[in-house]
Amino acid sequence: MAGEEENRKKTGRALLDKEAYRNNYWRLGFRSRLYDLFTPRAYTESLSRAAALVPDAGLCLDAGCGSGQLIPLLARRGESCPLYLGADKLAEGLARARERAGRACFLRWDLTAETPFAAASIDVVVAHFSIYTLDDPPARLMAWRNLFELTRPGGQLIAANPSTHYSAETIIEHSLNSEQVQRGPLIAWLKRVFIAPITRHLGLAYIQRQLEEGGFHAYTPETFSAEVESAGWRVKAVEPVYAGSGILLTARRP
Ligand SMILES: C[S@@+](CC[C@H](N)C(=O)[O-])C[C@H]1O[C@@H](n2cnc3c(N)ncnc32)[C@H](O)[C@@H]1O
Repeated sequence: MAGEEENRKKTGRALLDKEAYRNNYWRLGFRSRLYDLFTPRAYTESLSRAAALVPDAGLCLDAGCGSGQLIPLLARRGESCPLYLGADKLAEGLARARERAGRACFLRWDLTAETPFAAASIDVVVAHFSIYTLDDPPARLMAWRNLFELTRPGGQLIAANPSTHYSAETIIEHSLNSEQVQRGPLIAWLKRVFIAPITRHLGLAYIQRQLEEGGFHAYTPETFSAEVESAGWRVKAVEPVYAGSGILLTARRP
């Protein structure tokens, strides 16, 4: 009996360590601003695609907003920009996001905990690469369900998560090619030499390892759709993003 109790404590501690390590990974990235500095172009393209799908006006909740990289992409619309609400469980991400904010409100919220929003009060939810960090299927279901409850009938979900084809190498190569086309050979070379190795080793390789070992969750279009639909959403479309390493899904609340 004492042995069982000791094992349970050890497992609990291991889980806490894993969770603490993951949280500290984002925390450090946000606090140091390395998260923004080392974001590969393929990721920004995925965010731009998500932003383009957000309708004008209304209330937009960025669920797991991190450092708020979605904010400037929406703000480009000027007056027709929707009102932005950012929610994240980490204060460090919210602090960075607040610095960018124009018309915005922020809230510290763990998406798996009781929702602080009134039911059916939000027009569109964006969950861009946030829910895959929950390795526990019931926790992910709880998050999709919470987002469903706070969205008005007819409202939308725009969500992205890693695909089972996630490849750090492909993301880097796609991003550097895109830099070359968009910003020219000098910037692409500088990025290749000084930025890409750090992005690859400190960021993408860590995420790829977590996806392979089950610390983070990777999806196929079918498993992504099934998980979201099990929370009540009706999936409208799925498309590849992030150089094929991600899936962008749109759904609506019936
Ligand atoms: C890869 S970052 C994505 C940030 C932002 N959506 C973007 O695309 O730049 C993952 C974010 O999800 C947040 N997150 C993970 N699990 C969460 C949860 N249970 N509740 C709230 N935020 C969560 C993390 O704190 C982190 O800020």
